[in-house]
Amino acid sequence: MRKILLFPLMFLAALISFSGSFNRGINADDKIEKRIDSVLVKMTLDEKIGQLIQIVGMDTAKEKLIRNEQIGSVLIGLRGRAECNRIQRIAVEETRLGIPLLFANDIIHGYHTIFPVPLAEASSWNPELVKESCRISAFESASEGTRWTYAPMVDIARDPRWGRIVEGSGEDPYLGSIFAAARVEGFQGNSLDEKASIAACPKHYVAYGGAEGGRDYNTVDISERTLREIYLPPFHAALQSGAASIMSAFNDLNGIPASANHFTLTEILRNEWNWDGVVISDYNAVGELIRHRFARDMKEAALRGFKAGVDIDMVGDSIDGNPYAPNLKNLVAEGKISEEDIDNSVRNVLRMKFRLGLFDNPYTDTLYFKGNNLSKNYKDSIALKLAEESIVLLKNENNLLPISRDIKRIALIGPFADDNSNPTGPWAGGYKQENVISVLEGLKKSVNSGILIDFVKGCNVDDSDYTGFDAAIKAARKADVVIFTAGESRWMSGEAESKTDLNIPSVQQELINRIQAAGKPIIVVLMNGRPLTINRISENIPAIIEAWYLGNQTGNAIARVIFGDYNPSGKLPVTFPRSTGQIPLYYYHKSTGRPFDKEDKYTSKYTDSPNTPLYPFGYGLSYTTFSYDPIAVSKNRIKKDESTKVFVKVKNTGKYAGQEVVQLYIRDDFASVTRPVEELKGFKKINLMPGETKQAEFEITPDMLSILDLNLEPVVEPGKFTIYIGSNSVDLISTSIEIVE
Ligand code: GLC
Repeated sequence: MRKILLFPLMFLAALISFSGSFNRGINADDKIEKRIDSVLVKMTLDEKIGQLIQIVGMDTAKEKLIRNEQIGSVLIGLRGRAECNRIQRIAVEETRLGIPLLFANDIIHGYHTIFPVPLAEASSWNPELVKESCRISAFESASEGTRWTYAPMVDIARDPRWGRIVEGSGEDPYLGSIFAAARVEGFQGNSLDEKASIAACPKHYVAYGGAEGGRDYNTVDISERTLREIYLPPFHAALQSGAASIMSAFNDLNGIPASANHFTLTEILRNEWNWDGVVISDYNAVGELIRHRFARDMKEAALRGFKAGVDIDMVGDSIDGNPYAPNLKNLVAEGKISEEDIDNSVRNVLRMKFRLGLFDNPYTDTLYFKGNNLSKNYKDSIALKLAEESIVLLKNENNLLPISRDIKRIALIGPFADDNSNPTGPWAGGYKQENVISVLEGLKKSVNSGILIDFVKGCNVDDSDYTGFDAAIKAARKADVVIFTAGESRWMSGEAESKTDLNIPSVQQELINRIQAAGKPIIVVLMNGRPLTINRISENIPAIIEAWYLGNQTGNAIARVIFGDYNPSGKLPVTFPRSTGQIPLYYYHKSTGRPFDKEDKYTSKYTDSPNTPLYPFGYGLSYTTFSYDPIAVSKNRIKKDESTKVFVKVKNTGKYAGQEVVQLYIRDDFASVTRPVEELKGFKKINLMPGETKQAEFEITPDMLSILDLNLEPVVEPGKFTIYIGSNSVDLISTSIEIVE
């Protein structure tokens, strides 16, 4: 019998400190509950089941279903305010009870203003700024009638073969939890019923990022310990920040599909976490229980999905025929589902609609959004700031960067240089190419007339056309410096884009090699949605900028970094492996009984590769340098319920002003279960002028030292802990503290 466990306390400290409140999502509002009762009591069984059905798109047949109160929500697409209001009028004014619809969309990193992809945003290590970008996305979405977004994606991913790694915040549960909370708070604002707030929907619950082989939709089979320590924390963080809904995943989880998994959907979500939001399945995931061979037919799929805890069947009518629509009523008639069970799910849906204020204000208020409009300058400034802070400087040999504006000629080469589409990445909302600043446009805007930008595409993204090589090499020969934009198209990562080969396409690599032979300094600007095995670039190219997909402000942000108007501060939220053979490779690995020892053959290693990554978690360079004084500790021996503080002075020892992400890692030196060699437990992003010193301070609380013991119960064990502080997960200084009985 599982004990009802409070979630591992180690994450709660971080969340309370960030979200400023605890359990906002579950303080049921009595007034709303009474209003739910007053609606529910009037509803027929058909009308109740209608609230649990979601359709995609719109046509006259679907409008008819709405008139017959058979639909509760719509994955509406970017049809805009007028169309949403028109459809809403059907639900509110042409039906018996006038229950408003929920309109949903995948607003992952922007509706009109496209921000960097989430993996890029996570590289900023600036949750407050990311929260601001989500607030803007919420405003734009709500102004167009969308009040529910299928975001944030909070899947922990430590396998870059999995294309959806681009949609999340990387490999670390702590960092992922911080960003999950930030995004939910940004989308939902101070109150869900604000007209510019939208309901968040952390996804894909749960462990979707653990797909075997990094192959999308593949089986996930993990221990409950891994589930609780790695994959659940960001979801718990999102719900603690008040997320109104959650999306169940496609994957099979330990033998039970995630969209029919009573343990995760009810025992954890409802009983352990006491959460009262809406569970919606991923796209036809209930119907796909048949393909899992977990259900014989649609009726059994409906029974298994509903009984496990899925409230709304997303778009079940789209592919295999709608599981819930005809079958739930029959299952009630056969006594396999009680009407009380139906009522409980319908309550969850009505609660979300009341919390959004839809019963009182079902229509998008045009005047409100006109009167409170966010200026384009403001939105662009946030998009630019976030794009700049998302850039990670991977290499800068001999300080090639930043380049001076005194140079005369830049050769700009590569398939993404004059590109207003790929820089928006997958899930780019309603982006418009005319709003996307390309690298070429950004560089041209950023230089005076004295510098010639000689653009030659040179090659496409991924084919065997070498016909552009000669012109590119010729341009390189005439230039003072070459900027080469390399990487993946926006469609090479994201959903259903898993790959076995993480090299950049060979045509790009070949052109880089030939340009390098021309002997001019090269800066490679990477645009990609996942870590790539860029060993040859890393070995041979003097300067490498990881730019991911930065959205509308791509060209401005990259130009400002290249010329030093912004000193890059990004840090990798995910490990870059040397080869796919190393995967999975992540920083918080276990010690093993035979940790690698170069003097001892019989230790954990590969014979054809180092164990170390190409670039480690938390890594990123700056145009300046920082020095760390030894760590000071207020008390190095504390009891289980006591805290202590660690301090470190950081100095900017270079000539550029810069931001340093001071990272705090903790190692439980010896414990009743094996623990990682280190775990991220805190970070502070500080601004330092040249020569300036600041002190970074971290409180070490018992919650941060808590682990799940043999029985998966949170416990703080006596013993020594190593405290690490540094600029990434490898370059660290350390000290020791001890928990005493
Ligand atoms: C997709 C994705 C999910 C998305 C949903 C609706 O298949 O898995 O992330 O929110 O369908 O578009």
